Amino acid sequence: MKKKRRRKISYDAPQPTQYNSAVCSLGLVTLLLSVNMMTSLKFAVLLLAFSSCLGLQYRDNYIIEEEEEKLTVEASKYGSLWPLPQKVQISEVSFKLTSISFKIVDAKESSASPSCGLLQDAYRRYYEYVFGTAKRQGPYTNRRAGPGELTELQVWITSPDAECDGYPSVTSDESYELTVDQPFAVLKAPKVWGALHGLETFSQLVYEDEYGAKSVNTTTISDFPRFAHRGILLDSSRHFLPIKVILANLETMAINKFNVFHWHIVDDQSFPYLSRTFPQLSQQGAYHPYTHVYTPADVKMVIEFGRLRGIRVIPEFDTPGHTQSWGKGQPDLLTPCYSGSQPSGSFGPVNPILNTTYDFMTQFFKEISAVFPDAYVHLGGDEVDFTCWKSNPDIQKFMKQQGFEEDYRKLESFYIQRLLDIVTTTQKGYIIWQEVFDNGVKLKPDTIIHVWKGNQQQYQNEMANVTASGYQTLLSTPWYLNRISYGQDWRGHYKADPQDFKGTEEQKKLVIGGEACLWGEYVDGTNLTPRLWPRASAVAERLWSAKDVTDINDAYNRLSMHRCRMVERGIPAEPLFSSYCPREYKGF
Ligand SMILES: *[C@@H]1O[C@H](CO)[C@@H](O)[C@H](O)[C@H]1NC(C)=O
Ligand SMILES: *[C@@H]1O[C@H](CO)[C@@H](O)[C@H](O)[C@H]1NC(C)=O
Ligand SMILES: *[C@@H]1O[C@H](CO)[C@@H](O)[C@H](O)[C@H]1NC(C)=O
Repeated sequence: MKKKRRRKISYDAPQPTQYNSAVCSLGLVTLLLSVNMMTSLKFAVLLLAFSSCLGLQYRDNYIIEEEEEKLTVEASKYGSLWPLPQKVQISEVSFKLTSISFKIVDAKESSASPSCGLLQDAYRRYYEYVFGTAKRQGPYTNRRAGPGELTELQVWITSPDAECDGYPSVTSDESYELTVDQPFAVLKAPKVWGALHGLETFSQLVYEDEYGAKSVNTTTISDFPRFAHRGILLDSSRHFLPIKVILANLETMAINKFNVFHWHIVDDQSFPYLSRTFPQLSQQGAYHPYTHVYTPADVKMVIEFGRLRGIRVIPEFDTPGHTQSWGKGQPDLLTPCYSGSQPSGSFGPVNPILNTTYDFMTQFFKEISAVFPDAYVHLGGDEVDFTCWKSNPDIQKFMKQQGFEEDYRKLESFYIQRLLDIVTTTQKGYIIWQEVFDNGVKLKPDTIIHVWKGNQQQYQNEMANVTASGYQTLLSTPWYLNRISYGQDWRGHYKADPQDFKGTEEQKKLVIGGEACLWGEYVDGTNLTPRLWPRASAVAERLWSAKDVTDINDAYNRLSMHRCRMVERGIPAEPLFSSYCPREYKGF
């Protein structure tokens, strides 16, 4: 039940904080009562779910007040699991784990070799997440475990090829089964990719009892993702993102079971990608040619860091629009705009009528296909502004020759089709923004159409159209996390479902997932992580968990704890609402 009131507010002086605290004092009473009733519960976070508060949202200079639905103060029967696995059974029988005797090891039957660096790396990471970075007390010994103690997590890769040295792909098997019981816990997965997810899940089952001892309950989990493509888009052109920030977000993605890093690496504003074939692109087009570029070694590091966490790295080189920065280091690539009969000195999209354009693209994408191992590249194709093309007499002449009349979408299609042919020769598949489909460009049947425009009804129509035409699709429209507002906007992100549109079962199957996007106009290394997390976690659960996992109360309780867990792991994820974490973020 939602009550919505709209009132116009003065443009410069909204006072949401005062208003909010008056309403929320009601919540504080509830909080105090709950503390008394639930003293046995150690997860203090839960106690801080207020029964009712007003959320305020600004839209332009309007303020929308929404009475949020009741959030009950109740531990989830799923503990702090996020995203929720497909099948979970947690009993009340619990075991202790100690840093002295607990080990994560390969099961005897596992097909993974002891030299599988990906798994060894992950065992170390998750041992530290479970016990903190506190030093082991004393040397590692085979001390006899006490009764009620869990001493081993055995990781068993069940298929003959563990894929330890491979790259994850859209068809990777990410499933796993986890049983926590005496005498040891067993994590079974066909491939390393499922094992990585299972290790994260295991670490989420471990909690502290009332004495601060690490505990885990008897648990059976069987899990796999609902969608194969679960992505985050970061934009390193509007602002340069230091490598450390990118790596921290890959780590956080793994914690949330995201598996695609869509790297919107260049755009109008800057070209930080250091190309071996065309070094002048970043030399001239980056914000700074040495300090604000991604070298080949940087790119390699990002790809390997992602691989070790089951994350694909898909670069986006968006053309023919969004290319101002390309023009600085590559003369004649962009279209000269005209003012009357004279060139105006400014440039428009990539010039589609020159053969040199296609020679350049051929060489450039040959390099990209070698540098990025993923089977797909994102070719953009969005928001092409036709005014410059229209102003240019050579383009007008070409349009006449080709019989395009005045339809500049045909010129755009002409360019894109040649580009797609070029990329096809590099053996890569491609993802493109929806405009390319909307403009009727001829596409290979395995093209993925990325939907980003419109309101709910419009994007649902678009998903219906794209899938009716037989194309695979990704959804981003409801997940533009760069758009911020006052209040718990994660709920809206959580409720959007990429398969909610009119279509057949066959059409629904063509939805391979979605991506949360964080465009960079107002984002750099200072605010990227808290702006993205835990809001992106809402998208993570939507893309991983079963379709019927929609209980917003249960989600709030689990997500509050998940957010505190991220904070404890050193990730400055912002709060969902008034609350506290057992261990607060301490900054440096
Ligand atoms: C784990 O077991 C304890 C009792 O040993 C119980 O209080 C708690 O609710 C259980 N956790 C979950 C998530 O079921
Ligand atoms: C561009 O290439 C086409 C086809 O290869 C050729 O017919 C045409 O003459 C070339 N144009 C120029 C200006 O070189
Ligand atoms: C999608 O399909 C509807 C109904 O057939 C049509 O009205 C609409 O124009 C289509 N939109 C696009 C972008 O093709």
